[in-house]
Amino acid sequence: MAEKTHSHDMTLSDPATGKEYTLPVLEGSVGPKVIDIRKLYGQSGYFTYDPGFTSTASCDSAITYIDGDAGQLLHRGYRIEDLAEHCNYMEVCYLLLRGKLPNAAEKTEFEHTITYHTMLHEQILNFFRGFRRDAHPMAIMVGVIGALSAFYHDSTDINDPEQRMVASHRLVAKMPTIAALAFKYSSGQPFTYPQNKLSYAENFLHMTFSVPAEEYEINPAVARAMDKIFILHADHEQNASTSTVRIAGSSGANPFACIAAGISCLWGPAHGGANEAVLQMLYEIGHKDNIPKYLEKAKDKNDPFRLMGFGHRVYKNLDPRAGVLKSSCDEVLDQLGVNDPLLELARELERIALEDDYFRERKLFPNVDFYSGIILKAIGFPTSMFTVLFALARTVGWVAQWNEMITDPNQKIGRPRQLFTGSDERAFIPIDKR
Ligand code: SDX
Repeated sequence: MAEKTHSHDMTLSDPATGKEYTLPVLEGSVGPKVIDIRKLYGQSGYFTYDPGFTSTASCDSAITYIDGDAGQLLHRGYRIEDLAEHCNYMEVCYLLLRGKLPNAAEKTEFEHTITYHTMLHEQILNFFRGFRRDAHPMAIMVGVIGALSAFYHDSTDINDPEQRMVASHRLVAKMPTIAALAFKYSSGQPFTYPQNKLSYAENFLHMTFSVPAEEYEINPAVARAMDKIFILHADHEQNASTSTVRIAGSSGANPFACIAAGISCLWGPAHGGANEAVLQMLYEIGHKDNIPKYLEKAKDKNDPFRLMGFGHRVYKNLDPRAGVLKSSCDEVLDQLGVNDPLLELARELERIALEDDYFRERKLFPNVDFYSGIILKAIGFPTSMFTVLFALARTVGWVAQWNEMITDPNQKIGRPRQLFTGSDERAFIPIDKR
């Protein structure tokens, strides 16, 4: 991790008091510099104000860098396009967790470690049976991942690097098993156990789609597409769910409970829930002739309708992951012989939206969620499973960021302040006087 350096000082002058404050400007390895305001409140009595943290760096990190204007996404310095093209998800997991791409021997050992953690304690299966069959799979994920914190007492000393890595391996390894079980439970099919001879993506497809009644044939193109989708969703700097994991972990909480918190945050339609919402939106639009009407709704501030899968807090250019997924769409649908009219509708929607001033002025481009749902639907996942797959893939990013946070000497418990706009102190009124 390149150490941050002191670049220069910035002076803040307050005309209300005539006072001046010197604020150090810090520089990382690439990207915007930061104004270090850690001493500002102590010196000035002022907080800073930034709801949604649109301009606030919450931490140092060396894992993922995004240049939103350039549409650039790097994991430990490597372009997401190169990783998606030349690596498998296990290599990217190793890269995110350990900071470098594995050599052949390291890759083999890591894959073996993950493979041999994919089974669950048999008691955990009981948690599924407590849910209604029609429970949303994300609700099941939140509950079962949280429940893992009751099982692995040998890996909860978060200050022991070894135990942290064991917890990290268990989470990466068991997410596919739990995700597949959530699907099986909601569909009423029998649970399927992992097969150690299969790759990570193949194992997940097998656990999800195989049934005891017949041999399940893994389509290599589908397994490759699944693996690529996992890579594209692996990590994404300090997004809402990663920040949730970091702030939960900053109190020293159990790692499995922290990941359950991240899953809860990811579920929201403004974040990871957008991939499910994109499909629902396309079904609602129905036909390309209806696109103009829905674009007007998306622009109408009084209409809650948003163009799901469009826009991003950081990218003000095409999300590079959307570009990779858009080309994968063709590949997968051709391979599967699927001719999904929703793909044409999505393409037409993108074309028309990107010609519209409202979207161009606000630099609203398709994000990672816009095309992923179409591929997942073609593979055979119900829309309710889309965000589960996002959570599965993002777990390695969450645990990598959690490890980095725990080992960061600057890290304190996350505890933002506020601009208070409520009532000042007032006399108490007894109930008979109210
Ligand atoms: C993910 O952070 C991450 O990294 C997330 C993620 C990851 O990998 O972890 O990339 C994954 O969550 C992708 C985003 C998925 N969400 C959606 O696709 C939902 C639809 N998108 C919007 O809700 C919105 O774009 C957000 C939430 C993604 C970003 O919201 P911001 O940064 O708060 O943007 P904003 O609301 O300030 O928008 C700026 C303007 C506003 O208009 P004005 O007030 O300037 O007139 O753009 C408008 C917004 O109304 N706008 C949209 C829009 N997104 C923003 N208008 C219509 N449709 C949209 N989708």
